[in-house]
Amino acid sequence: DKDLGADLASVLITQEELQAKIRELAAEIDADYAGRDLLLVGVLKGAVMVMADLARALHSPVSMDWMAVSSYGSGTRSSGVVRILKDLDTDITGRHVLIVEDIIDSGLTLSWLVSNLASRNPASLEICALLRKPEAAQAEIDVRYVGFDIPNEFVVGYGLDYAEKYRNLPFVGTLAPHVYGGQA
Ligand code: PRP
Ligand code: MN
Ligand code: MG
Repeated sequence: DKDLGADLASVLITQEELQAKIRELAAEIDADYAGRDLLLVGVLKGAVMVMADLARALHSPVSMDWMAVSSYGSGTRSSGVVRILKDLDTDITGRHVLIVEDIIDSGLTLSWLVSNLASRNPASLEICALLRKPEAAQAEIDVRYVGFDIPNEFVVGYGLDYAEKYRNLPFVGTLAPHVYGGQA
């Protein structure tokens, strides 16, 4: 199908709901970091959309940097063993750092990332995640800013992919079963 919409089962969070939530989060972040220099660290590739919209919704000047990580191991689930594909360009020693993520699923990626970045001695280290699944809500990750707690369904769009597709949808949705082709 040429039309991405044909692959979707439902829209979980509309474009308007996403943008309204991002404005709320940005207002909180502006207030919390008033008078401090903030470095946003986006986690490639899923966080590109939320990073771009959140950064533009902030009124304070911020810096942005990016990390690319890959969790490997057997199966489709994150193993918690993470490898850095692209490290930060910035030395974060003494900086106020806010990690920006699209989704926390098992929480393994972020718990590894938090301990990795914490070992570099930032002045502060917090997390902003647009979406959070139930398993992560139980994990020992202290997420300062959460957009939406969502059910344990496979979601795509607004940065989130299935086999590298659907990231460019402006909303978050679930995929129709035929897309998985029985290999889910
Ligand atoms: C996805 C998502 C989060 C992570 C969450 O990234 O963007 O970064 O998985 O999963 P976890 O909480 O179970 O660790 P992915 O590894 O698919 O890379 P991508 O961002 O390039 O899609
Ligand atoms: Mn990711
Ligand atoms: Mg992915």
